[in-house]
Amino acid sequence: MNKVIVGAQWGDEGKAKITDILAADADLIIRYQGGCNAGHTVVVDNKTFKFHLIPSGILYKGKICFIGAGTVILPETFEKEVQNLAKQGIDVSGLKVSPLASVTMPYHVDVDGYCEDTASKGKIGTTKKGIGPTYTDKIARYGLKIEDLYDAEALSEKLDIILPLKNKTLTEVYGLKPYSKEELTELCAGYAEIFKPYVCFDWQELLNAHKKDTILFEGAQGVMLDVDYGTYPFVTSSNPIGGGAAVGSGYGPTMIDEVIGVAKAYVTRVGEGPFITELDNETGEKIRNIGREFGTTTGRPRRCGWFDAVTMKYAVLAGGLTSAAITKIDVFDSFDEIKVCTAYKDKRNNRIYKSYPTNIYTHKYLEPVYETHAGWGVNISGIREYDELPENTKKYLARLEELLEIPISVISVGPNREQTIFCRD
Ligand code: GDP
Ligand code: IMO
Ligand code: MG
Repeated sequence: MNKVIVGAQWGDEGKAKITDILAADADLIIRYQGGCNAGHTVVVDNKTFKFHLIPSGILYKGKICFIGAGTVILPETFEKEVQNLAKQGIDVSGLKVSPLASVTMPYHVDVDGYCEDTASKGKIGTTKKGIGPTYTDKIARYGLKIEDLYDAEALSEKLDIILPLKNKTLTEVYGLKPYSKEELTELCAGYAEIFKPYVCFDWQELLNAHKKDTILFEGAQGVMLDVDYGTYPFVTSSNPIGGGAAVGSGYGPTMIDEVIGVAKAYVTRVGEGPFITELDNETGEKIRNIGREFGTTTGRPRRCGWFDAVTMKYAVLAGGLTSAAITKIDVFDSFDEIKVCTAYKDKRNNRIYKSYPTNIYTHKYLEPVYETHAGWGVNISGIREYDELPENTKKYLARLEELLEIPISVISVGPNREQTIFCRD
């Protein structure tokens, strides 16, 4: 069974932990979109590993980890990540990069930083890793791909086309410094060296050879950050939805059997944008402290709120989810009561929304309609069997299943690999 791991909220749902567990049974693990904006944490034997671009399956010796065409790669960060893993004794020989992945150039990072630092009203709160500008150039057909780094003629021709316009924009629109062709050619030669051991020119043979094997597709970010379906424009610039795996991996949709949507038992969000169940109060602070909700990539405190079944139901549809993995439910161990948002109410006219309203400019008028569940008051982080969970935890999970209309396949009760309960095969 080939599975896609998709974030079902605004990212940081614990995707990497679930990927890490399922990678044990996979032969090939493919990251299909995003870049080093992602921050993925895996804890094994109390040792913490942080990933940005490299699939967490790399922790298993002998697995092939492929970074697909749908990704954007900042070479310096990629190099650092590989070096850090090697330092920790991880064998990275199974790592492969698609020659069709896009390269984040220094001017992409410059523009991302400029836009974030100077924007007042339109600030998105990006990770400043050049993600948006790299995808913008890719779609505008002004991008560079990994394969261009190994073809001097193509690179020279492309830079001649890209640079005049790029420099005009950099200097005249943003007031930023221009780049010379010589400088970029030299940089690209360095990038070619960085990727040399990993670039997979025979990716077609690789993917064909694995067609009958077990494949795990690893998503980054989450459905609500999807450029088409998320809280646009407060989104990332790629497609984290399950369908993104069919575009960004090199395999089409017929290779996907299951899509597992990972969601926390509550919701978090980093950066700007609407968040209807946000708790800007002591309860939100309590979730942040117990859940250690601080960004892996930027260290920013994550905004916290109650579980939002309206957005998650939307994620089930747009993300193509076939089951859910609910993580961090242990964070509620000391809570007397837990709320779940089942609908939104428009303050202007009391209209009730059971489906997610996509126009985010109406969200300021919407307030959550909650139902309240009793807490369980015991530490569940040591429980490994569903039947041993407290009755109130089971009731809470059963209610989520009912609201989402998909089964919960995995429950996570702590960051470690073994702190996991599988509900169904
Ligand atoms: P990702 O981006 O979706 O992979 O998630 P992150 O790694 O950014 O954030 C999830 C954080 O929660 C990490 O620090 C994980 O180690 C941690 N974590 C994952 N699952 C659980 C869980 O069930 N309980 C607790 N307490 N922590 C968890
Ligand atoms: P993982 O894979 C949470 C958010 C940023 C910002 C918006 C756009 O760890 O879940 P970008 O730099 O992508 O242009 O920023 O998206 N964002 C994430 N939030 N988890 C992530 O990744 C994120 N990657 C980007 O905070 O709001
Ligand atoms: Mg993360």
